[in-house]
Amino acid sequence: MTSIRHFIESWRDRFKEAGIDDARLNAELLLAHALGVGRNDVALRLDESLSDVTLKAANALCERRLKHEPVDYIIGRREFFGREFHVEPGVLIPRPETELIIELVRKLQPDLAGRAADVGSGSGALAVTLAVEFPALQVLATDLHPTPLKVTRGNAERHGVASRVFCARMDGLSAGASGFDLVVSNPPYVTPEEYPDLQAEVRDHEPKEALVGGPDGLAVALRVLTQVAERLKPGGYLLMEHGMQQGNALREAALTAGFAEVRTERDYAGRDRILVARA
Ligand SMILES: C[S@@+](CC[C@H](N)C(=O)[O-])C[C@H]1O[C@@H](n2cnc3c(N)ncnc32)[C@H](O)[C@@H]1O
Repeated sequence: MTSIRHFIESWRDRFKEAGIDDARLNAELLLAHALGVGRNDVALRLDESLSDVTLKAANALCERRLKHEPVDYIIGRREFFGREFHVEPGVLIPRPETELIIELVRKLQPDLAGRAADVGSGSGALAVTLAVEFPALQVLATDLHPTPLKVTRGNAERHGVASRVFCARMDGLSAGASGFDLVVSNPPYVTPEEYPDLQAEVRDHEPKEALVGGPDGLAVALRVLTQVAERLKPGGYLLMEHGMQQGNALREAALTAGFAEVRTERDYAGRDRILVARA
């Protein structure tokens, strides 16, 4: 019989050998998922034996991780702004730096109501969080691809805001949609040159169309920015995540597009990360 301790330690070692970060944490999370319990429960039951059925299931999950599939896809969820979001292949796994957008909205528009849009909604992390945080807000979530819209809808239901999150498949923010008090976006912004050097978890498993933003990494962001300039109410904000080298280009483009106030916010590591543009 294999004990929980033995399972965790042997997979920790295999993950380490394969260059996987947080090897023990990954082994614990995957075993907890196979057992249908929380990670803390696993840590408290180290001397218990695993049944053959559980062992087989947990080994299969760990084999997937060994091939660098992100743990969030394997367990089917990721935390964003303190809430759990379903994720699956075909949607970007939401990143902690994107939470900055929500924090900025809370500072800039603490009483936000009316209409907002999230362009390129992915899992719906931004759209759904906005709807939960601002109960008088209606949110349009757009994406060019069907899987992100399906997942956004599911996450809106999961968090009880499906009646205020509207999903629409479109390129950016189409002309039919206007009069927004806020638009947020985390468009694809990696360059084709950067793409091959991304971590295997990202490059080989997350959707390329969620990562690469055209030939210079800026094509989608610039198109969205120009569209949004025409679709915000006066005084409304665009908050857009971008690559650390893209701040200057996006500020210039935002001024050219007619935004009244433009600045860049940095992430926790001090890198240019969010364009803040006021119409
Ligand atoms: C970087 S992901 C962001 C996902 C999510 N908002 C987040 O922050 O976790 C970019 C998303 O934009 C979508 N996308 C790419 N090009 C688009 C376009 N032209 N119009 C609308 N969505 C687009 C992708 O399918 C992907 O879901």
